[in-house]
Amino acid sequence: MNALFAAAACARAHAWAPYSGFAVGAALRAASGRIFSGCNVENAAYPLSQCAEASALGTLVAAGERRIVEILVVGEGPPPCLPCGGCRQRLAEFATSEVPIRIADPRGRVLVETTLGALLPLPFRLRGEPRSEASHALAQLREAVSAEPPVFAVVFGSGLSKLAERITPILSLAVRELSDLPVPAVEGHPGRITYGRWAGVPVLCFLGRAHLYEGHPARALAAPLRLARELGCRAVILTSATGSLRARIGPGRLVLVSDHLNLQGSNPLVGPQDAHVGPRFLALDGLYDETLRAVTRRAAERLGLELEEGVLAAVLGPCFETPAEIRMLRALGADLVGMSLVPEAIAARQCGLKVLGIAVVTNLAAGLSPHSLSHAETLAEAGAAADRLAAVLEAALPELARCA
Ligand code: HPA
Repeated sequence: MNALFAAAACARAHAWAPYSGFAVGAALRAASGRIFSGCNVENAAYPLSQCAEASALGTLVAAGERRIVEILVVGEGPPPCLPCGGCRQRLAEFATSEVPIRIADPRGRVLVETTLGALLPLPFRLRGEPRSEASHALAQLREAVSAEPPVFAVVFGSGLSKLAERITPILSLAVRELSDLPVPAVEGHPGRITYGRWAGVPVLCFLGRAHLYEGHPARALAAPLRLARELGCRAVILTSATGSLRARIGPGRLVLVSDHLNLQGSNPLVGPQDAHVGPRFLALDGLYDETLRAVTRRAAERLGLELEEGVLAAVLGPCFETPAEIRMLRALGADLVGMSLVPEAIAARQCGLKVLGIAVVTNLAAGLSPHSLSHAETLAEAGAAADRLAAVLEAALPELARCA
């Protein structure tokens, strides 16, 4: 408190307040322990004045600091000189709601002792994770992609995240560091984002995904796609472990998704509409891009692999289906069944990303499989097919990038 007070009082002595006559000093302690101070700077156009907190914040940010752990404001009182609404929001970019704020008078008497969270007006309250760290991670990501935006977002489904080892990473973050993204919490879904180069193509990879069956609302599953679009991606490659409804397409086979049946009982576009993202009443014909599919098929052929195409039925899960449900899905025209991919494909189309969907068959569906299904089998079979999927994508990516 003493060092903070000294810094704030010293800055206050230099305040430029000829119009109000009200001098204010502020001091911020950064996570590193360094203290940054500032004073108010008024202007003849009085409303354009700068508060002491904003001045101090400017020096903190310019020094490369990103986290505030303590705040002190010095002004003549009473009434105590509380940060204005704008400054509370500014501080909230770099401070958690628990960060203490003290308001002192010029003699060093503390008039108010509170926290940023207590001061913030309700509509702007900090949510969950510290905003400061989330916005820091996002800023890092934005900075990393600024030189060369990713062409593709790639979502690695169950057991497929080891493919990320083939990527030359530039930046890797935990999904939980980005507060607006749903965090995957299922085995085989590490919940990381890697930006890097794959086969020479800049890519933004999501290692694992969140699912509806984890309890996420469908609209939450749109967030990674919208982020990818915002960061410059032009297309998305969605991979997923699936069951096959065709006895001749067994475990280990890769199938290009040609269309889908959304039987999940929800849709990522349900909820308030943001016209900036895209239309609410979205056409889904040609969702799985024909050109991207053709390029991938040709690349696989060069490797001696034949890629089937099929219609994916998306179900809610997390139970595997009953044999009767599988018979129903076959009657409806499905070739594959899975618990993911489709919400992301819809969200991607809405925000203008082209979509390539690749299903990795991990089992014959219930009733066709000689044994009961399990998540362990899904992970093992996906892991076994991962190298083949990697080879196909590496062969296809340079040409896919030209078509995206
Ligand atoms: N059904 C649903 N989802 C799946 C399956 C399945 O058989 N296999 C892998 N994901």
